[in-house]
Amino acid sequence: MEIVLTINGAEKRVDARPSESLLDLLRRLGYQSVKFGCGEGACGSCTVIMDSRPVNSCLVLAVTADGREILTVDGLGTRQQPHPLQTAFVEAGAVQCGFCTPGMILSSWALLQRNPDPGEGEIREALDGNLCRCTGYVQIVEAVKLAAGRMRPKKKTARKKKTTGKKKPASGKKGQKSSS
Ligand code: FES
Ligand code: FES
Repeated sequence: MEIVLTINGAEKRVDARPSESLLDLLRRLGYQSVKFGCGEGACGSCTVIMDSRPVNSCLVLAVTADGREILTVDGLGTRQQPHPLQTAFVEAGAVQCGFCTPGMILSSWALLQRNPDPGEGEIREALDGNLCRCTGYVQIVEAVKLAAGRMRPKKKTARKKKTTGKKKPASGKKGQKSSS
């Protein structure tokens, strides 16, 4: 059956097999960052964002994703222009074998969209469905905090107006635009 997906901002018309999972379809299309771990919704390595929400793509039938927007980690940033989460994961040492990393980053991204300043408990809860065999999670939590701090809009500090010493033109005189 032909379905239409928007993947990382690009519309794709693809033939989905009747019992094919979204995970298998994405990998068949070349999105190898979407990992096959358990195939039964237990590890989160196949996480993608579907219409702004993280899903285990191994549990989604491809045909039911018709018309949806899909974001994989490739759509977040590139090697040349990485997303702050990607940079933070590297800097915090949250990437070891890397198998869980795309799913971790996408679940973290979804968290930061709805909560730009999460506490440790909220980060751990949001990543509850993403398993990592390597890091022990401490560095992953640190990476999410680091990225959150960099992504939050900076608070504006009140700045004093510079005085130039020049007088303002008097009202209604030269230098003022006519309103007619
Ligand atoms: S492969 Fe989908 S949750 Fe493990
Ligand atoms: S870095 Fe290896 S499974 Fe997470």
